[in-house]
Amino acid sequence: MNNILVVGSRGMVGSAIVRQLEKSKNNITELTRDKLDLLNQREVFDYLKDNSFDEIYIAAARVGGIFANDTYPANFIYENLMIECNLIHGSFLSGIKKLLFLGSSCIYPKFANQPMNESALLSGKLESTNEPYAIAKIAGIKLCESYNRQYQQTHQIDYRSVMPTNLYGPGDNYHPDNSHVIPALIRRFHEAKINKSKEVLVWGSGRPMREFLYVDDMAKASIFVMNLDKEYLHKKVKPMQSHINVGFGSDLSIRDLSLIVSEVIGYDGRVNFDKTKPDGSPRKLLDSELLMSFGWKPEINLETGIALAYKDFLNFESRR
Ligand SMILES: NC(=O)c1ccc[n+]([C@@H]2O[C@H](COP(=O)([O-])OP(=O)(O)OC[C@H]3O[C@@H](n4cnc5c(N)ncnc54)[C@H](OP(=O)(O)O)[C@@H]3O)[C@@H](O)[C@H]2O)c1
Repeated sequence: MNNILVVGSRGMVGSAIVRQLEKSKNNITELTRDKLDLLNQREVFDYLKDNSFDEIYIAAARVGGIFANDTYPANFIYENLMIECNLIHGSFLSGIKKLLFLGSSCIYPKFANQPMNESALLSGKLESTNEPYAIAKIAGIKLCESYNRQYQQTHQIDYRSVMPTNLYGPGDNYHPDNSHVIPALIRRFHEAKINKSKEVLVWGSGRPMREFLYVDDMAKASIFVMNLDKEYLHKKVKPMQSHINVGFGSDLSIRDLSLIVSEVIGYDGRVNFDKTKPDGSPRKLLDSELLMSFGWKPEINLETGIALAYKDFLNFESRR
């Protein structure tokens, strides 16, 4: 039985990891901000030293959409760097040998070839709106790799990192102005259904292609990567390119996504697209072949996942 810590366990991904880990016989510790502020180095180091964890999942981060990233760039770079440095160095100091760091697909250059392979990292300019966040996430990958390179032989350090595509599901942020595309569409179509609106206007042309993964699939992928045999994994990745993409493996247009959401919700009005609004990148798809070659695959398709997410949204609304 392992003693496992999940930081960020109140978040969408952290809570999904806890849900999956609870099915095992391990001892799981959840850690939220009110118990420990991860920006406080001394407290983080002391906490890790006082508890003998075998593994840590780092699902805590300062996370947000374009608006938040653009408005609070200092918070995004500072807080994410501090969280990573405190937890990764603190784990090393406390003798914790296994750790999984969660990054994001925004680490890849704005004009990376599609689908984006792990090798595209640091091959070009980042998208400017979330550059500070992406730089912090890249630093997280490089922290893991550097501790592996320096301390693998002497201290058996084995720190891994995964880069998820766009995630959705229970525990998502349904804020009207500051949410990702699926929760935003769920809210929009739900309100249109309740108000019997004849039309829903979706931002942009509907043509951009995007990839989405249900959060429980992400949680399973995280545990799968954490548990991969060390020798096997180290044969498959390079010391300075060790991060692993986690995506659904295919994408769809925002138009098709909108139609699926409207159908799941049971909205029967018209769906139109506001072409005067910006589209963003034409395509963002991860190349997840590496992970799939290890034997992992997603289990929840978009229709099922959106139905589950809609149920979660209705629960969220009824609690407000
Ligand atoms: N959601 C996505 O679509 C997506 C896509 C790609 C990658 N990811 C990655 O997945 C990870 C988790 O994302 P998420 O969507 O689950 O985000 P989330 O729901 O916002 O959860 C993040 C968690 O981090 C915790 N946290 C932030 N600052 C903290 C601090 N100073 N001290 C202690 N805890 C702190 C928050 O705790 P409180 O709740 O206590 O404030 C929150 O529970 C992130 O690394 C993110 O980059 C997410």
